[in-house]
Amino acid sequence: MDTERLLTGYSVSESEEFSELSLRPQRLGQYIGQSRVKDELSIYIQATKERQESLDHVLLYGPPGLGKTTLAMVIANELGVNIRTTSGPAIERTGDLVALLNDLNAGDVLFIDEIHRLPRQVEEMLYSAMEDFYIDIVTGQGQMAQAIHFPLPPFTLIGATTKAGSLSAPLRDRFGIVLHMEYYDVDDLTEIVKRSAKILNTSIAADGAREIGLRSRGTPRIANRLLKRVRDYTQVYGRGEITKDLADKALSLLRVDHKGLDHVDRQLLEAMITLYQGGPVGLSTIAANISEETETIEDMYEPYLLQTGFLQRTPRGRIVTKQAYEHLGFPYSSKEN
Ligand code: ADE
Repeated sequence: MDTERLLTGYSVSESEEFSELSLRPQRLGQYIGQSRVKDELSIYIQATKERQESLDHVLLYGPPGLGKTTLAMVIANELGVNIRTTSGPAIERTGDLVALLNDLNAGDVLFIDEIHRLPRQVEEMLYSAMEDFYIDIVTGQGQMAQAIHFPLPPFTLIGATTKAGSLSAPLRDRFGIVLHMEYYDVDDLTEIVKRSAKILNTSIAADGAREIGLRSRGTPRIANRLLKRVRDYTQVYGRGEITKDLADKALSLLRVDHKGLDHVDRQLLEAMITLYQGGPVGLSTIAANISEETETIEDMYEPYLLQTGFLQRTPRGRIVTKQAYEHLGFPYSSKEN
């Protein structure tokens, strides 16, 4: 389903994957938004370079699509070192981790996306690697078992996760730099859309860029996807330039509304309103009703609905707010009486 692709960035074609890569900023100065994160990082990067050391390990956390992988690449670029990228679920055995670590030169960056999904044994091997730059490799079994002390070059681990809370305390504590990525505001998204349009050689009016920015649910990955679809629409129905009107028509066709909600967001809220009087409802009940995975809702849909104030979390479950009733055109009756 298209919307799924818009949100996750998964199951995109190779050519889309390539252009996604080319839209990524390479340097901190080109990276739009996340000013607090950038301010902190630029200090640490400068200090590290002056001391000719490896940067402390960095944990980036926040909702998907906000540029955690991009930022990891920017950090490596700014440090002038190589980066190896992988993900928690891809490192299945300790041997996989040994192979990755063995490939690093002094100062290099190892980027692990979805670091909360590392297998336990792999995570435990990371502790000494991060803290003292060595690993113990056990060979043989039983009485023949032998631990080989294997020193590593000083390196920087950059971990990314959508859920800092599901990281174990020993792992979390080994990151010296912990940075929270926030949803982007409309001005930043508008700038990102303009920058991407330029790279894609597409002409766009200021209000056209803003319309896409407004409807990208705070997420650059979605802004860039929407831009590409609006560009297609403009090529077929327009006169070369992406205007506000064309952006509006294309996004309506994609069922992305004026608050940036897609049809899954609306389906979710409508199911809660019509079947459960707006809640409280448990997450798994909502998921079952709209045939989505609980995890998908938790990672992808809920954070933005909470942030915009359409949904609230209570100890008894999620509730739909008055604002959401109004946005969706349902009559609201107060729960208090
Ligand atoms: N493309 C995607 N994310 C971006 C960002 N934060 N700044 C500039 N271009 C981007």
